[in-house]
Amino acid sequence: MKIFLDSANLKEIEEAVKWGAIDGITTNPSLVAKEHREFLPLIQEICQRVNGPISVETVSRDAAGMVEEGKLVAGIHPNVVVKCPLTKEGLTATRQLTAQGIRVNMTLCFSATQALLAAKAGAYFISPFIGRLDDISQEGMALIRDIKTIYANYRFTTQILVASVRHPIHVLEAARIGADIATMPFGVLEALVKHPLTDIGLERFLRDWESLPAEAKQFKPARQRVG
Ligand code: E4P
Repeated sequence: MKIFLDSANLKEIEEAVKWGAIDGITTNPSLVAKEHREFLPLIQEICQRVNGPISVETVSRDAAGMVEEGKLVAGIHPNVVVKCPLTKEGLTATRQLTAQGIRVNMTLCFSATQALLAAKAGAYFISPFIGRLDDISQEGMALIRDIKTIYANYRFTTQILVASVRHPIHVLEAARIGADIATMPFGVLEALVKHPLTDIGLERFLRDWESLPAEAKQFKPARQRVG
């Protein structure tokens, strides 16, 4: 399963890239607004830092506006994927952008039937929002399972991008189901790395190592040492 970072924050993006942990980025208008930066230069800077799909959302309500914005952001960099909402207008825009060779991520997906329509419109990614479903007492992961079954039944190539991820168990479940991608905030990515037994184990190894005499701890072979 690929891992995307759900962030428009350059510091977080640079840090995650250093770990070799991420395959792409997702942004949305709320994440961009948090950065208090001019939008297009920010997207350009993200594209310079990550070698993978960068999802950038349109903000029009009508298909014509989405197509116009989509073409503009897709022109920034070949890795840009245009995000359109799962509305009638969004489906229309998805069909048109896809016909022009522009990849679309259909976002704000909350039902399997929406996901079916997104695939038929030619979406490259479908973004089901599992955390927001959990928030209203609906099982977000059940939606991922349904979409996986439907796409397999009809051999749709639209990739399932699990979004609105809130904790590591969401990531684990997405991988068990076989989702193509999970996108997550920086805090969840960090939580995937951490394990108390790793920290305790490392402390013990290093303490034991310290008990060796200095001459026994040298990393250079004896013949290369001076004196
Ligand atoms: C990503 O594409 C989505 O916009 C994002 O995961 C939504 O997450 P949220 O529900 O935590 O805002």
